[in-house]
Amino acid sequence: MNALPSESIACKPPFIGVFDSGVGGLTVLRALRHLMPDVPLQYVADTANAPYGERDSDFIAARSLAIAQHLVQQGAALLVVACNTATAHAVEALRRTWPELPVVGIEPGIKPAVAASRNGRVGVMATTATLTSARYQELLKAHAGPAHIVGQACTGLAHGIESAQLDAPELDRLIARHCAALIDAGVDTVLLGCTHYPLVQDRIARHLGPDVQLLNIEDAVARQAQRCWQALAFEPEAAPGSPASIELESTGDPAPLTRLAQQALHWPVQARQVLI
Ligand code: DGL
Repeated sequence: MNALPSESIACKPPFIGVFDSGVGGLTVLRALRHLMPDVPLQYVADTANAPYGERDSDFIAARSLAIAQHLVQQGAALLVVACNTATAHAVEALRRTWPELPVVGIEPGIKPAVAASRNGRVGVMATTATLTSARYQELLKAHAGPAHIVGQACTGLAHGIESAQLDAPELDRLIARHCAALIDAGVDTVLLGCTHYPLVQDRIARHLGPDVQLLNIEDAVARQAQRCWQALAFEPEAAPGSPASIELESTGDPAPLTRLAQQALHWPVQARQVLI
């Protein structure tokens, strides 16, 4: 069995380890920070290998296991997979590898979206790898009921968010194209099934128009992580009123992660590069 958090080689206080293929998981990190400002967070962006959405299942699982191993060795006591694509292809392998480590994943919230839809037509914006996964098919089987679910594989969108300025016109044209397909399909509710997309949520909302409601699930994931963290019952490390540390790591150029964390999330944190 792999090393448990209590056997970790580092002696820093226990923290929540969070990872994504790139900057998208910052949207989950933001929700975690909001809910648990006194809990230390360490985030890994697998920038050198992003995006995951067009990769095969074995690759996504191997990268997820390697990053989780890195976080566990550093002392992560809880793992949050801040990536729908990695959750779809790796969450079971992560739980098998570290059976005593709580692992929280993120998946498109089909059930609440179906409940919220008035016309029974729901769009899911996600990566190709998420939409073609067995876990996603199981989610549909369990929760779609009679609703019509339209999966929109948003090819290029996570890559565009990784590499462009968020207000770049070419990114806006790509968003418009993916939204148009969902409008044509007559959906009245759209789920953001990729953690990158809330970073351009205002633009997605504008292209979908006022009659389509947009749902995302980062806050629910943060609440689930909070329940798991509370069950671990650690003594708080940060003094009351002073926020705990946030560490940002990137397997590639750390500049986009630093820029987005500072610009979009208003955190003066400098990301560093790691080899994983
Ligand atoms: N942010 C990711 C997700 O939630 C992955 C995007 C990608 O790397 O393609 O699915």
